[in-house]
Amino acid sequence: MWLTYIVCRLAETLGVSEAEQKSLTIAGAMHDIGLLSLAESRGLVEFEIETRPEHGEVGYLFLKPFAPLSTVGELIRDHHVYWQDGAGEVFLGHAVPLGSHLIHLADRIAVLIHPQQEVLTQIASIRERIAAQSGRMFIPRFVEAFLDIAGKEFFWLDAASPAVEWYSPQNGDWDLISLDGPQFMELARLFCHIVDFKSPFTAAHSSGVAACAGALGRLSGLSDSECARLTTAGYLHDIGKLSVPLEILEKPGVLDEREIAIIRHHSYETYKILRRIGMDENTRNWSAYHHERLDGSGYPFHLSAPQLTLGCRIMTVADIFTALVENRPYRPGLSREKAISILQNMTTQGWLDGDLVQTLSGNFDEMTVICQQAEGSALRDYQSFALARQDYEQQVMVA
Ligand SMILES: [Fe+2]
Ligand SMILES: [Fe+2]
Ligand SMILES: [Fe+2]
Repeated sequence: MWLTYIVCRLAETLGVSEAEQKSLTIAGAMHDIGLLSLAESRGLVEFEIETRPEHGEVGYLFLKPFAPLSTVGELIRDHHVYWQDGAGEVFLGHAVPLGSHLIHLADRIAVLIHPQQEVLTQIASIRERIAAQSGRMFIPRFVEAFLDIAGKEFFWLDAASPAVEWYSPQNGDWDLISLDGPQFMELARLFCHIVDFKSPFTAAHSSGVAACAGALGRLSGLSDSECARLTTAGYLHDIGKLSVPLEILEKPGVLDEREIAIIRHHSYETYKILRRIGMDENTRNWSAYHHERLDGSGYPFHLSAPQLTLGCRIMTVADIFTALVENRPYRPGLSREKAISILQNMTTQGWLDGDLVQTLSGNFDEMTVICQQAEGSALRDYQSFALARQDYEQQVMVA
């Protein structure tokens, strides 16, 4: 989170308006959401990046359809464009916001901080490296603002502190963005794409789970608003996978014991992320408890029947059902008979709610169609997203 802190301090030093500071804070926290491949992420630890990274454009493509974050998307888009004595005002025919250049500067400062070394001993060398790039990589006025604040120890002590999440001039309660229920569901859908689009094989999974959870809620007699919250929780259930290293998510072969253990972190990370964003407790638990089992043998909390509410049970069944009926690279979706028999076995073992499995089995065809339609729509989103990426690559090659 260094970058977010640094960008806020720089923005404040430069006298940027509060509204712009808010956008920069969110953009700082989300600047690398478009990082989908390990190969690209490896290159970013170097101070100077040889090839034009694609992840800014990818992040922009993710955020573009969601109006409340479209400004943030524009800030993220070109956060690796060099200033080049003013030529960096424009990139591939579009204007580059000054905020993108500020994020670029903050990002490169953050890359230069070595976490293993005492931060105050690094000040001189970092100042020197940044100052040497004034005009070439960075806007000179921004470099001056940095050199000013970089002379003060507190800036570095905050920047290097693991406790710093983000900085706000109001110190704390800074309402960065307020969304109503439907907007929040839309945001959840966007985040599920960020998680799922890391691989074409999982590109539609969370969308399938979200639709199945909402439909199973309806079949169980839950209200419209509860079903909407179940859908939102379904979109977010695997958001903790953002913390799983790309080399594991991308591994083509069988995972070893250590890698499986790391994958198992994800539902606890979902819990922590949703708690941190202040999601209401029920919806958060529906989402984060999707690997718990009624007999207490699930993970990570080993909760059992009395603690697992209907919403949690629905999510678990929806997740397993979706995984069974969707196509995987190594097998097509399972037949009705096979899927129902697996779900029934899990019920006999004491893992799943028998009433829900019965409801699901009684409405199997309808549920399968709902799942396939949701996944089909997510796959179309994925394909148009992949085309936009190709288009961008071609533009970069021609430029
Ligand atoms: Fe980046
Ligand atoms: Fe999961
Ligand atoms: Fe899942």
